[in-house]
Amino acid sequence: MVGIAILGYGVVGSGVYEVIRKNAKSITRRAGTKIDIKHILDIRDFENHSEKNLFTKNFDDILTDTDVSVVVEVMGGVNPAYEFTKRALMAKKSVVTSNKELVATHGCELLKIASENKVHYLFEASVGGGIPIIRPLKLCLAANEITEITGILNGTTNYILTKMINNNKTMSDALKRAQEKGYAEKDPAADIDGIDAARKIAILASLAFGKFVDSAKIPVAGIRNVTLTDVEYAKKLECVIKLCGHCAALENGKVDVFVSPCFVSKESPLSTVDGVFNAILVKGNAVGDALFYGKGAGKLPTASAVVSDIIEIAKSGENTFSPVWEDKGDVLENPKNSVSKHFARIKAENKNEMRDKILSIFDNAQIIDIENGEIGFVTENMTAEGFNDGIEKLNVEVISTFLVLS
Ligand code: HSE
Repeated sequence: MVGIAILGYGVVGSGVYEVIRKNAKSITRRAGTKIDIKHILDIRDFENHSEKNLFTKNFDDILTDTDVSVVVEVMGGVNPAYEFTKRALMAKKSVVTSNKELVATHGCELLKIASENKVHYLFEASVGGGIPIIRPLKLCLAANEITEITGILNGTTNYILTKMINNNKTMSDALKRAQEKGYAEKDPAADIDGIDAARKIAILASLAFGKFVDSAKIPVAGIRNVTLTDVEYAKKLECVIKLCGHCAALENGKVDVFVSPCFVSKESPLSTVDGVFNAILVKGNAVGDALFYGKGAGKLPTASAVVSDIIEIAKSGENTFSPVWEDKGDVLENPKNSVSKHFARIKAENKNEMRDKILSIFDNAQIIDIENGEIGFVTENMTAEGFNDGIEKLNVEVISTFLVLS
């Protein structure tokens, strides 16, 4: 029997409880032992819960219970989750988490503490909700040098963009619905402004390249200013707008990472990923392209990933993994050297004049003319610095810019 304690009975915590109760038989068969919920920690009262005796407000009840060998941290946020995780690991209890903020911020240290104490720190649910991606990167694709990863990593923003594009909803209406469905973060600005996606691509990059990528240093743009006119330009270019996280290993040993709303070509499998679904496209030097797809947020999909980690621990006995990444200092490439195609919408009173000017600065730019008083264009592949210099030379008001992914 494996005794567990769940920290936090919110969307994910209640999902973990539900999945363990609902699938008890098959989970026991697959784990080779029963998963026994010993405690649930939450500051709120659950007097009407059918198993109200499981609830506690005191973390020490969990720490001192020798029957608890796995702590399931699904509280979200850094505090007090960081403190609780450290104390649990140092008490030789494995920890399973969906907390991407904590993994992205303190993952290095927590993995090291876990390894020193010969226990696990597992976080399958921290990226892509129910999509298996952490374990595949760690194990199934371990034979590969990973060259790049591009993903739609935030369910809330993908849901919002899909509703805006397909159902003409406003951003605030779509966000409200995403919150009701339990997709959004406590502070949805973390979703809208790309911070949640940055944490997730940082975790994937750290794992893929074996070195800590600091999410706080990644260049990030969110979807706050995306308009339906931007969507029209994207359509004209046979693209859809998606918030993408991207990382690539460079020949100089550095890692190029960004989060940005992108024009994604309809030829890319990422363009068809709608609603709360996420997808992660991994390029490995042996496997080629591998695409991982599924629900990126929500109660049961996230719980599915959390419980899979508990089962892995139940099956692994004393075997533990060494830390999956190390802090090797600043590994991020300077964002100004990042190479991509760029799209820009700029003010243009005299369109013919502006068209000539654009073509004189941006070689082979593709011009899109669908709105009065403005003009859009797509560049060839160029560095961010080259693009910004070109925009400065144009000396016009910029309405919006996007990266273009093929
Ligand atoms: N707010 C996150 C999202 C939850 O929308 O993707 C899952 O990590």
